[in-house]
Amino acid sequence: MNILVTGSHGQLGSELQLLAPAHPEHQFVFTDVDELDITDPSSIESAIRQNNAQCIINCAAYTQVDRAEDDVETAELINHKAVVNLAQAAAARNIILVQISTDYVFGGKGNTPFREDAETSPLGVYARTKLESEQAVRNSGCRHLILRTAWLYSTFGNNFVKTMLRLMGEREQISVVFDQVGTPTYARDLADAILRLLGNPKLPEQFGTYNYTNEGVCSWYDFAVAIAELSGLSARCTVSPCHSDEFPSKVTRPAYSVLDKTAIRTAFELCIPHWRESLACCVRKLMTAQ
Ligand SMILES: NC(=O)c1ccc[n+]([C@@H]2O[C@H](COP(=O)([O-])OP(=O)(O)OC[C@H]3O[C@@H](n4cnc5c(N)ncnc54)[C@H](OP(=O)(O)O)[C@@H]3O)[C@@H](O)[C@H]2O)c1
Repeated sequence: MNILVTGSHGQLGSELQLLAPAHPEHQFVFTDVDELDITDPSSIESAIRQNNAQCIINCAAYTQVDRAEDDVETAELINHKAVVNLAQAAAARNIILVQISTDYVFGGKGNTPFREDAETSPLGVYARTKLESEQAVRNSGCRHLILRTAWLYSTFGNNFVKTMLRLMGEREQISVVFDQVGTPTYARDLADAILRLLGNPKLPEQFGTYNYTNEGVCSWYDFAVAIAELSGLSARCTVSPCHSDEFPSKVTRPAYSVLDKTAIRTAFELCIPHWRESLACCVRKLMTAQ
């Protein structure tokens, strides 16, 4: 399959680039905003035509959640309107579109894992624009996979794991919120899952919306404690639990955002690693790269 990847300098796109050589059955074209700006419909058209794309994996997004509150227009343009363009182009040419969405489409009220059909209630501009992107993909009628993920980290870009490792190296004590619960997701696992789904013979009957995170549940505090233990930095830095109101931010983060992965596991017979196992791999890579 000819696969066009957008936003490929980001975390997910970079992990797809690492996995691509293990998938000689696909021809990948990796682009980021300099080669393919997804807000430009004519660039989308020409990238599809030139590369004879049969599938688009849209890794491009406006992911700065707080900044989106002040930069609503750009967030709407990249997260929503550009996805309308991608979806319409995909529908017109019978191209498969893989769109990545977020746990933030759920408002975080609850205490049991959200299934795909749970009521959505986005908090803030980022969450709203991502939900609108989902609706745009569904409304276009294109063959699609919408994958909702959460708490992405990787060896690339900026993320919680890299920030924690830096802070733990600099400070003797850090405080991390323990009143927000979810599941960390290694972008490499999500990238791997996307390629497994695309290669799965059941795909033609299984297009739709799915949750995908790593397995398990934790608070940001538990996540930070695990990073400290796995990196060996727990010997020099203490991690303490604190409440989220100690870190005021423009957008309220969901208190509970665990996603139920039964649907994707069942539809594609997918094995999903536990967050701690995947975190160990990522921390090992980051520590050996230092
Ligand atoms: N990060 C998370 O914790 C998280 C959680 C849930 C869901 N998600 C979703 O998962 C997906 C992947 O996230 P990620 O963390 O890999 O994102 P990321 O690291 O922020 O990467 C996004 C990439 O898209 C590029 N981009 C921005 N505007 C573009 C445009 N107009 N045209 C083409 N490319 C553009 C960015 O370039 P610049 O850096 O130059 O802007 C960046 O390289 C996104 O859909 C995100 O909403 C992420």
